Amino acid sequence: MRLCAWPGNETLAAKLRAALGASELPLETRRFPDGESYVRIAGDCGGEIAIVCSLDHPDEKTVPLLVLADTVRAEGATRVGLIAPYLAYLRQDRQFKPGEAVSSRTFAKILSAHFDWLVTVDPHLHRYNSLDEIYSLKSRVCHAAPAIAAWIKVNIEKPLLIGPDSESAQWVGDIAARINAPSITLEKTRRGDREVEVSVPHIEKWQNHTPVLADDIISTGKTMLAAAKRLRDEHAKTPVCIGVHAIFAGPAYAELINVGARVVTCNAITHPSNGIDLTEVIAAGVRLIPVERP
Ligand code: R5P
Repeated sequence: MRLCAWPGNETLAAKLRAALGASELPLETRRFPDGESYVRIAGDCGGEIAIVCSLDHPDEKTVPLLVLADTVRAEGATRVGLIAPYLAYLRQDRQFKPGEAVSSRTFAKILSAHFDWLVTVDPHLHRYNSLDEIYSLKSRVCHAAPAIAAWIKVNIEKPLLIGPDSESAQWVGDIAARINAPSITLEKTRRGDREVEVSVPHIEKWQNHTPVLADDIISTGKTMLAAAKRLRDEHAKTPVCIGVHAIFAGPAYAELINVGARVVTCNAITHPSNGIDLTEVIAAGVRLIPVERP
């Protein structure tokens, strides 16, 4: 297999190459003055090619990514896979108002038409049970929980795992169970894209523990911020905040640092807060993609 790193994904791609025994397929990209993309493959495209591209900021990446996928196929790739540790466009999974786009379906259709397989980490499946409901390519979902649990075990004394909302309960419980730590879930009310309220149950009995908030996506950071402030005010301890996908739109990262939180994320999206390595988790997912027989 050859791995082609989309700009910004070079570090993870290099680690994945080492883990998978894959070689590098160099890529050249730039923008024309009018905003269109120039894409050039600078190597042999024969055999199986995987493009490593986390899909944060998907609108600016998607067109050139599809151009790249079509180019490697035209240049001789037998199969083209996508390793997208963060998979975008899963939020809008139904129509909430008449006329709204269910963009998750459209995005899935577009990627499925250009790639043979997809490996991703903890996709935000809320009302879908599986990617197969909307993706027609072969997909493999990897989970960050083992890597997060291992990190907490080494770095945090007496952790209390905290999920900021009911959706997070299942996987926060999974992390906690792996390290034999207690876990609780907060109650979240979302009033808008950037307006979130979080209530903390009585946690006096965990007074001697270190609160560890864990969420799949830190997007505007408002969920983490509201939960961190509450915990600071009611528990007298600012939590460690762990996220799988470090989107940090706008001033989210600075806001969390400013409340005194320690912020640690997985390297699914490249960010200065990356402290938990998912290389092995993702490599294991890629190894499970069925090999194509001639
Ligand atoms: C929601 O269901 C997710 O698990 C995250 O809690 C959410 O995406 C975080 O978004 P934000 O950082 O914008 O509050």
